[in-house]
Amino acid sequence: MNNTSILIKEELLERLPSIPRVVYEVWNTIGNKKEADLSKISDIISKDLTLSARVLKIVNSPLYGFPNKISSIKHAVVLLGLDAIKGILIGTVVFGNVNSDIKDIWTHACDCATAARVISEVFDIKDSETLIAAGLLHDMGKVVLKSFFPKLYLKVSEVKKKENISDRDAERVAIGVTHDVINRWITEKWNFPESLSEPISFHHNIGASEKYPFFTAAISLADFLSHAYRLTSTEPILPDLSEEVCNILNLNPDILGEILLRMDRTLYDIEWNGI
Ligand SMILES: [Fe+2]
Ligand SMILES: [Fe+2]
Repeated sequence: MNNTSILIKEELLERLPSIPRVVYEVWNTIGNKKEADLSKISDIISKDLTLSARVLKIVNSPLYGFPNKISSIKHAVVLLGLDAIKGILIGTVVFGNVNSDIKDIWTHACDCATAARVISEVFDIKDSETLIAAGLLHDMGKVVLKSFFPKLYLKVSEVKKKENISDRDAERVAIGVTHDVINRWITEKWNFPESLSEPISFHHNIGASEKYPFFTAAISLADFLSHAYRLTSTEPILPDLSEEVCNILNLNPDILGEILLRMDRTLYDIEWNGI
């Protein structure tokens, strides 16, 4: 890390708010257990009406594609599982206020989460709910950068426009630190489970993923495909899709075609509203 990124890291960790009390309470109750008292967790979330409404809105959105409406938090908790619930709670914190400033990041996050769901279906991945939550949060570092360091974000945007390069390359050139590295700082500070943290932090650096390389590769592919799906002449840059991702997932043209076809069923004509 160079001096600028050390300074950014220090300032970011200092300015990053703590997790809201209710989210912290849920995380504490879940702890590192594989099983926890689901009623207790549901009770804590249900006491916060705004949070409950946001969780239900996400769970009932096309991101998850559940066939029936889920009207209780308890049902949502049971269906999603603990790591996914942790991810969604963080999603409500990061994207709780989707205004025009972060609308483009929100749309891409929802597209990526949808692609992650489709990839889970096609590859029959267990715990698809956690992967979907990882898709939603995979670029959270950009939101944090934009919210807490608007001047640095502006610098990145200017470089991106001028050089016609990807977001990540522009971040590297303009401020010497990229959003995936910021993701790692945040996931460490907020103590994310590794099933979420690795795909979020290493989706541009698959080799660094130790415990969840398949999840990480899946989010990298979801990111690539969601950019490719909305490729336009004004936004012509795609993130890299490394050979490692293709190898880990054993990708072939038939599988890719199937994923794109299924993505199109959800994404065609969709407008992602805030939460
Ligand atoms: Fe990214
Ligand atoms: Fe992305």
